[in-house]
Amino acid sequence: MIELGLVGKRALVAGAGQGIGRACALALSEAGAQVACVDNDADRAAAVSAEVGGLALVADARDRSDVEASVARAVEEFGGLDVCVDIIGEARWARVLDATDEDWDTSFDLVLRHVFYLAQAAGKQMVAQGTGGAFVAIASVSGLRSAPNHGPYGAAKAGLMSLIRTLAIELAADGVRCNAVAPGAVLTPRVLAMMSEERLAESAQAIPLGRQAQPEDIAKAVLFLCSDLAGYVTGQTLVVDGGATAQFPLSLRG
Ligand SMILES: NC(=O)c1ccc[n+]([C@@H]2O[C@H](COP(=O)([O-])OP(=O)(O)OC[C@H]3O[C@@H](n4cnc5c(N)ncnc54)[C@H](O)[C@@H]3O)[C@@H](O)[C@H]2O)c1
Repeated sequence: MIELGLVGKRALVAGAGQGIGRACALALSEAGAQVACVDNDADRAAAVSAEVGGLALVADARDRSDVEASVARAVEEFGGLDVCVDIIGEARWARVLDATDEDWDTSFDLVLRHVFYLAQAAGKQMVAQGTGGAFVAIASVSGLRSAPNHGPYGAAKAGLMSLIRTLAIELAADGVRCNAVAPGAVLTPRVLAMMSEERLAESAQAIPLGRQAQPEDIAKAVLFLCSDLAGYVTGQTLVVDGGATAQFPLSLRG
């Protein structure tokens, strides 16, 4: 039988309150890990932690001391930290010529700054433990390809993937693997609230597998990267987009 190696592992998911984060918390718990569910929405953190029998932690990921306190609290509760997943990242849509300083700063704060904070806090803990670990952050296909209005968000997600590669190299000798998952369109509550059924159906047609992802599709990729199955994988971005970025946009055939 193939083992994921996650039974009894101590995990923290930042942004666990809904969507991809909730799916990751459930998947890690189902694989046998203890999960600290961090969110800035106290009700969401409490609801998900109740589902997984884990620890609810309320924190604003944009605040370094909040992030450090979350990691410290999880370590205190579980006795250590083996797995850390950072889900948080909100899109600010603006054409580059129209984007304000606030669009730019907010995108980099909501997409990238907390990955730096969390990687430092979790990484230092994992290195000190001396037993390795796994760190996974959610990127986006917007950091690999682009479309109008994706400027600040895409630049921040591209920065996230770069940071993950550097972390992977710097922490490899300590056995801490660092990877990213880049989803295409995912049917999370945020996206479902934003897009009409008609627009969702139209966008599904442009995806080779014929549908947008469910949060669980992304959580399975995260679970793989956290598990022993990915024991020789570090510094990578796993694209989970139903084939959307694999295709050439123009066809020469009718
Ligand atoms: N949904 C998509 O189509 C899609 C596509 C590509 C990439 N992504 C990426 O996936 C990730 C998750 O997306 P989602 O749609 O599940 O997001 P979401 O907005 O539905 O969920 C994010 C969770 O993080 C929490 N959160 C937000 N800001 C926070 C903060 N400052 N501190 C602590 N918690 C905070 C929210 O309360 C929420 O529970 C993001 O990084 C996003 O960029 C999503």
